[in-house]
Amino acid sequence: MPQFRPIQISDNVFWVGAIDWELANFHGYATERGSTYNAYLVLADKITLIDTVKKPFVREMMGRINSVVHPSRIDYIVSNHSEMDHTGALPEVLDIIQPERIFASGKGVETINAHFHNDMEIQSVKDGDTLDLGNMNLSFLDAKMVHWPDSMFTYLDRDRILFTNDAFGMHLATAERFDDEIDDWILHHEAKTYFANILWPFAPSVGKVLEKVGKFENPIDIIAPDHGPVWRTKVKWILDLYHEWVEHKTANKAVVVYDTMWQSTALMARAIGEGLLSGGMEIKLMPLSRCTRSSIAKEALDAKMLVIGSPNLNSNLFPTIADILTYLQGLKPRKHKIYGASFGSYGWSPAAAKKVEKMLEEMNVEIVADPLQIKYVPDDTALSKCFEYGSEIAVKALGINIDG
Ligand code: FEO
Repeated sequence: MPQFRPIQISDNVFWVGAIDWELANFHGYATERGSTYNAYLVLADKITLIDTVKKPFVREMMGRINSVVHPSRIDYIVSNHSEMDHTGALPEVLDIIQPERIFASGKGVETINAHFHNDMEIQSVKDGDTLDLGNMNLSFLDAKMVHWPDSMFTYLDRDRILFTNDAFGMHLATAERFDDEIDDWILHHEAKTYFANILWPFAPSVGKVLEKVGKFENPIDIIAPDHGPVWRTKVKWILDLYHEWVEHKTANKAVVVYDTMWQSTALMARAIGEGLLSGGMEIKLMPLSRCTRSSIAKEALDAKMLVIGSPNLNSNLFPTIADILTYLQGLKPRKHKIYGASFGSYGWSPAAAKKVEKMLEEMNVEIVADPLQIKYVPDDTALSKCFEYGSEIAVKALGINIDG
């Protein structure tokens, strides 16, 4: 009796991964809808497993494999990426399967050995290498820094599938395995959130790999990533979206991120938001009481402006603001142009908004106005000042854009 069922994704390939319905946090990335760890079994003369799963999911993956072939019949394992969500199960899987050979990129070999310290014999492959599986072939494409130094893609010629590891993936736990079985809004939302939180810092490397995929001489009917659905009807759609994100096409949108102690900074945020709107910007007000780091990163990805509000706490930033700025500093590529400003309420020592400004400058955000700081609770005059500030920074950012 099967325990976990495989899903056939093409003539010769089965999905044998795992669904993580519980995942809420992927190293700081809030995963609203869980995730999947996709692994694929290629039924060639030389039966090959492409990638594995996170360690706690080994029984689920082996259960699915068992429903297709006896694990001892697997000849090869290919590891496209060594991060633990794809290799955590590898040592146990090797004990069970005892494959003839394991393949990874040169950096993948190094990293897997640095993770597990058990002297696995892994054969390194490089860009353009081909692996003969008897009645079909795999070939390898270097995908360095998408998003680790070891990352690579693998192409199966017979079924025209590109296995892309993290690229084109999303954190989405569903029983459905294909793009056409999932609502378009969810696909777009989760793919964009994934790109912003995992791949945005490496946009130049992603661009190079997109170029390589564009010039690839073989047809690609299916993109099979290691998280989320398999792309079989929207291959062009997801490639086009990646081009857009890599090229950093921005909307006339300001993301206003703030936290508040006694509602003064929140009141300022709302008035600044009204001003931004009057100056021609769309706005997203994102209070940290409700918004996760990953949802903010998603909105920041195509924003023209980042406007950050922090109350003063002991002459310093509010800790939640330091947290989100640290997170965004790690994500935003320096070459991606974003305009910025900062604000906040203070009692006797106006330091926070200035510190925010410094952190924005460190991430190469172009500051369009001095920080706006209001003592204690904003009165009507102060709120009008906030409105004007919002309007002015919007016009300035849009004007700067128009003038080039
Ligand atoms: Fe899904 Fe970079 O691991």
